[in-house]
Amino acid sequence: MTTPADIDVIPPRGDRPRVLSGIQPTFQLHLGNYLGALRNWAQEQERYDNFFCIVDLHALTTLPEPEVVRSSVLELAALFIACGLDPDRNVLFRQSEVSAHAQLGWILECHTPLGWLERMTQFKSKAGSGRERERAAAGLLTYPALMAADILLYDADYVPVGDDQRQHVELARDLAQRVNSMRGEVFHLPQPLIRTTGARVMGLDDPTTKMSKTTARSKPAHAILLLDPPDTVRKKIGRATTDTNPEVAEPLGAGVANLLDIHAALRGLTHDEVVAQFSGASYGALKRAVTDSINETLAPVHAQYRMIRGDEPWLLGMLAEAAERAASVADVTLLRAQRAVGLR
Ligand code: TRP
Repeated sequence: MTTPADIDVIPPRGDRPRVLSGIQPTFQLHLGNYLGALRNWAQEQERYDNFFCIVDLHALTTLPEPEVVRSSVLELAALFIACGLDPDRNVLFRQSEVSAHAQLGWILECHTPLGWLERMTQFKSKAGSGRERERAAAGLLTYPALMAADILLYDADYVPVGDDQRQHVELARDLAQRVNSMRGEVFHLPQPLIRTTGARVMGLDDPTTKMSKTTARSKPAHAILLLDPPDTVRKKIGRATTDTNPEVAEPLGAGVANLLDIHAALRGLTHDEVVAQFSGASYGALKRAVTDSINETLAPVHAQYRMIRGDEPWLLGMLAEAAERAASVADVTLLRAQRAVGLR
């Protein structure tokens, strides 16, 4: 237990950098999430003090069906573990189970100038304009303050995110600085971690855009989902965009380069090695090889997933325990913030 006397100082940091990331529980993860993030997180899990927050409060901004929210949280938690994240080593928790998020979220909302929120690109694109904007949930606007709470509660050093979330992490930093300058050292300043290592997987239907959850939802041919059965993988790769060359040859079209890079990432090869290996191969042969490497990677993930998702009492127990570990860190920061603003 931390005694009240030590709470006003930022607790000493352990020797491993603290990482926090939030993941929306509204849609299945895809191959881009796996190769660009999850696989790296699993490989590096000893080097960081990881907190992964399944952001079910954020998911409410679009008012999904309650049963979808509930099951997506469990699905995502099971998938993370199936991809190799050890729940003893990483704190994999559900946002709504740690009440400090909503509590600090409110405090931060009160410290956020409305103009900052109205300038967020994601708000502008999601909330639409005119009548549509009038009907948009207020949570869509205030969302970045809640996200800042997610990050700041854990004194996170690094926040691994995709490029689309960089603006929100910058806002969390600005907000931390604003509160610190008004009320004293309350928050530790986080840094966005936009990865350059790890593969950048492009859309199968449109290899000029990054593989994205949002597009995958409306166009199934866009992405390989981590729970796609082998036959679905084969069909999706079969339909993937290539180019007008008769066979694999340089200069590579964007779609062919994407397939080669997926194969390279899955097999642990370099770009040059796969280009040499497939040079002159037919697109059919390339696609068969890519299909096999994806299915071989996903087979053990599927087996693990079925086992974990099938044991709901275990999953719920794991989440409850993780929420306790998360709260033991978050509550200290919350109290520090409450005192700084006059609530305690
Ligand atoms: N906004 C992020 C997204 O839509 C999810 C998120 C919520 C998050 N809280 C976070 C990401 C904290 C990083 C850190 O993908």
